[in-house]
Amino acid sequence: MIKQFFGKLRLSVSSVCIPLQAASDPMGRKLYYDETLIQPAMKKLDDYRLLIDSKEYAPIMIGGMGVDISTPEMALEGARLGGIAHLSDALICAVSDRYLKTNYVKDRFAKNKASAHLSNKSFAQFDLQEVAEATRNLVSSTMEKKKGPGDIFINLMEKLTMNNPRETLHARLIGALDGGIDGISLGAGLHLSSFDLIKDHPRFRDAKLGIIVSSQRALKLFLKRTARLKRNPDFIVVEGPLAGGHLGFGLDDWFNYDLKTITQEVMELLKKESLSIPVIPAGGIFTGSDAVELIEAGASAVQVATRFTITKESGLPEKAKQAYFEAKEEDIVVNLVSPTGYPMRMLAQSPCIGAGIKPNCESMGYILDREGNCSYIEAYQQAKELQPDNISVKEKTCLCTQMRAYRTWTCGHSTSRLKETSQRMDDGTFRILTTEEVFNDYLYGTNK
Ligand SMILES: Cc1cc2nc3c(=O)[nH]c(=O)nc-3n(C[C@H](O)[C@H](O)[C@H](O)COP(=O)(O)O)c2cc1C
Repeated sequence: MIKQFFGKLRLSVSSVCIPLQAASDPMGRKLYYDETLIQPAMKKLDDYRLLIDSKEYAPIMIGGMGVDISTPEMALEGARLGGIAHLSDALICAVSDRYLKTNYVKDRFAKNKASAHLSNKSFAQFDLQEVAEATRNLVSSTMEKKKGPGDIFINLMEKLTMNNPRETLHARLIGALDGGIDGISLGAGLHLSSFDLIKDHPRFRDAKLGIIVSSQRALKLFLKRTARLKRNPDFIVVEGPLAGGHLGFGLDDWFNYDLKTITQEVMELLKKESLSIPVIPAGGIFTGSDAVELIEAGASAVQVATRFTITKESGLPEKAKQAYFEAKEEDIVVNLVSPTGYPMRMLAQSPCIGAGIKPNCESMGYILDREGNCSYIEAYQQAKELQPDNISVKEKTCLCTQMRAYRTWTCGHSTSRLKETSQRMDDGTFRILTTEEVFNDYLYGTNK
């Protein structure tokens, strides 16, 4: 009878560690374990550590979420808990205005007001000193508050070309290093010249520098360039097709790719090149068990973001957080409204879609190419000609303005599962979680 009872119970090793009196049958009689029925404990993410340059971390990176969705407050929490968390450098002048009471955006608008009606925005040049200063000050003001064993990195996107791609990228990189950032994740672009731009900086070999790629091919190109400087990246984030933000895949083929395969391909390349660099997959990793599976297959950690969008420390307004919780699978779309040209994943309910606001390049202008163009300006002019009294731009969005105002509700593919992670309260809204709760659920959770 005792055997029969145990046959149903199938103890895991962790349940063997419970106090002895609990190991009794319903009648209170002492039980004897049948060793063959004991299964190994489910592994947790906390059973692993990420090692970068001999520094140990909890194997969780909170990915950069612009504009200011991954806030300094969230980054500080991630570092306090022993992981790595990102600031984002998207629209950092505007973010500096928010936190440090600077007036970069207002001043730029005033300076360029007279030419604001022009559709070619090449006049709206960024002051490089200002860009570096805003980056340095926002980074240093965050780093001063950092506590705990983890690190804070900054996500720096090449595609934010700001009317002068190379020089503004240089100013942003230097500003972040001067501000004392622990590391930089290079994203949204191939970054073939980024290491060159900072090779003479005193922190070039001590800051942790990594790249986000979506293919083995992109990594190959990057490694070819860094090899010339004898400076390998310290980590590689492999971002798959289920991620939030912009995607490194085509609008019509993202669903043909999968994160596990790309991660394996990247690891194969590193092996072939005899390089030992931590590989960190990202995109659609919703639970600690998902993460463990990837780590068991050779990854060193995971980068996650979507689950943190609805935390107290996320910059999104309450209304957006609730919309993320409420999202159904069919609400999550990949479209081409971003003027970067990359497909972007977002909620179909994003208020930016179809809005017809005037381009705001004078004050922000992060997407302007070196000729002073942005595809939103073109789309806006066409919509204005068609319907001057009721302008609605369907194909593109004014990404700077809309991201800054949290009206582009970008999100990962797994957003429709967020409701599983919280509870609906009496007033019908979902309970907002803390970054610590989500972080610890990844670390210690064993649910699928
Ligand atoms: C709201 C949101 C904003 C994002 N913004 C950026 C960004 O500005 N730059 C970037 O490189 N990645 C961005 N990402 C991608 C994340 O950093 C991360 O790699 C990816 O979303 C992880 O997948 P998950 O969201 O399924 O966990 C964003 C993701 C989300 C959810």
